[in-house]
Amino acid sequence: MTCHDILACDVTDDNHEMANLQAIQKLAKQALDTFRSVNGDKNVFLDKLSSLRASMNRIRAADLGIDDAVAAGRDHQPWSAPVGYMFVAENPLVSMGVFVVQRGCRLPLHDHRSMHGVIKVLTGTVRMRSYDLLTEEQRETIKLPDLSGFSASSAGSTDPHDLDSAVQQLARTLHPVRPRAELELTPDSEPCVLGPLEGNVHSIESVGGPAAFLDILSPPYDPEVGRDCVYYKETKFTDSEESVGDVRWLRRIPQPASFWCSQEDYLGPPVDLDSL
Ligand SMILES: [Fe+2]
Repeated sequence: MTCHDILACDVTDDNHEMANLQAIQKLAKQALDTFRSVNGDKNVFLDKLSSLRASMNRIRAADLGIDDAVAAGRDHQPWSAPVGYMFVAENPLVSMGVFVVQRGCRLPLHDHRSMHGVIKVLTGTVRMRSYDLLTEEQRETIKLPDLSGFSASSAGSTDPHDLDSAVQQLARTLHPVRPRAELELTPDSEPCVLGPLEGNVHSIESVGGPAAFLDILSPPYDPEVGRDCVYYKETKFTDSEESVGDVRWLRRIPQPASFWCSQEDYLGPPVDLDSL
């Protein structure tokens, strides 16, 4: 057997293997290939990301074993989770899962620190509000808004030392961002892409009924290395100067008590990232 024959065999085996994979397994393989190249040539990575987005656009709820019953959701009760999460697969490079947002519920504003992501709506309609984070350089040019009135009320004290420390504490929780256009997304919409800065903070709420979307993130959340999910609240200041240049301020908050996820069964084809 010549080198050419060996190469031909490998290519044939690879094609054969791809042909036998289910759509979601092929997508997982493509996601791995895409995010393995994240630190290489930027244009190569962007080409791969664009192809991944195109493939994800063809994914349908049925490819993930999501049937009409899941798509119909269930009436949200005060004691039931507003959002369900179907774990599909995860390794140190990529995580894949489906969020099911019940009627009238939302994922509150949260970030994806140093991560890339692609989101595709599978059922229903969602409204997504997103913000771009700013670069260090951009942040340095932005003046903090006047916090005195805001902190006095939050500190509940008139002691100047208390106020100083309240101002400093508040300032540390504020993040300047730029808003993106609000989007309403359905299964007919193109997938949304987020990056370490672009569209990195978002909230996602269901519109007119329950909705489900596929979320691919790279790398996955990992609190042990500082990639925890952080929640934010849009914060308005009476001082109008801070909105110059379309900059808004988000305040870091604990996870809202109204938001938590239940684990839901994933019934689609198994995705073993280590064997792809
Ligand atoms: Fe998210």
